Amino acid sequence: MAVAHLGHAELRVTDLDRSRWFFTEVMGLYVTEENDERVYLRAWQDWDHHTLILTKSDHTGIEHVGWRVEKPEDLGTYEKQFKDLGVDYHWIEGGKEPGQGDGLRFMTPGGMPFELYWERELYAVNGKDGLASALPSHPQRYASRGIGPRRFDHVNFLADEPGAEQEWLTRELGIHHRYYAENSNGERLASWLSRTNLSHEVAIQRNKNQTGALLHHVAYFVDSPDQMARAATILADNGIQIEWGPGQHGTSGAIFLYCFEPSGNRVEVWTGGMLIFAPDWEPIGWGPETAELGYELWGSQMPETYLTYGTESHFTDAPQKSASSTSG
Ligand SMILES: [Fe+2]
Repeated sequence: MAVAHLGHAELRVTDLDRSRWFFTEVMGLYVTEENDERVYLRAWQDWDHHTLILTKSDHTGIEHVGWRVEKPEDLGTYEKQFKDLGVDYHWIEGGKEPGQGDGLRFMTPGGMPFELYWERELYAVNGKDGLASALPSHPQRYASRGIGPRRFDHVNFLADEPGAEQEWLTRELGIHHRYYAENSNGERLASWLSRTNLSHEVAIQRNKNQTGALLHHVAYFVDSPDQMARAATILADNGIQIEWGPGQHGTSGAIFLYCFEPSGNRVEVWTGGMLIFAPDWEPIGWGPETAELGYELWGSQMPETYLTYGTESHFTDAPQKSASSTSG
């Protein structure tokens, strides 16, 4: 049993209006629905109701990351598995998160707030003016504003022990280990994993300050390098701080840039990146002699903040006592 694919992320934001402006007008995502507390967003070719939720909060960070499972009964099997493992979990009733059925939420050992779900609503244009496409392959018309990424791509966390976290994700959730970086002592500095053939859907980097898990970034995918140059100009034009890039990761071959949305969460725009098809893929190692190229091929310097800055990673709406510790 394994998860099927990464589905969505919920970010907590301290300035919902400004963050909504950034993700719609600058990033070019589309609102599926919203209220005073939350905004549900997706990229133009994201098929589901949402791939990103912005939730108004008194602090910035990540509330949960949703992974779809392969079939409905997997949720019950995972519940049993978490009981056996002593992993605390709680259920989110279907519909409480709009567009989603029952969610099984749990914290990974390293501190990533994950959720497993099966049922989800597909996005429907529902008469929104100008968004309906003539193409069945387009859930809505091609992006017409802002950076306009095609789809949600991945999430990245800082954690104290990326090696242990990777092993747990691979063993318990079946998420394949794709490539990693390690220092001269053989300590794991980062690991990148995916269940699909993307180079990674989740990455874990060593938290240099050893302060536990933090969200490093969420990433959206654009189609081409020229769209990366365009994205950088759009960000600068709108007064958004670019932290690093555009540059090229040697590890995945993807072209990247990182910026901060107005509430302080880091966001990546990227394109390219190798795809992986082999069922017996062996993780690629990047040691001290190649690590710099792994992070950046083109010569720009990684800013110190890239290794140290992240935003809070925990559930705010988890019950006091988890289901796993009350059900015996
Ligand atoms: Fe969810």
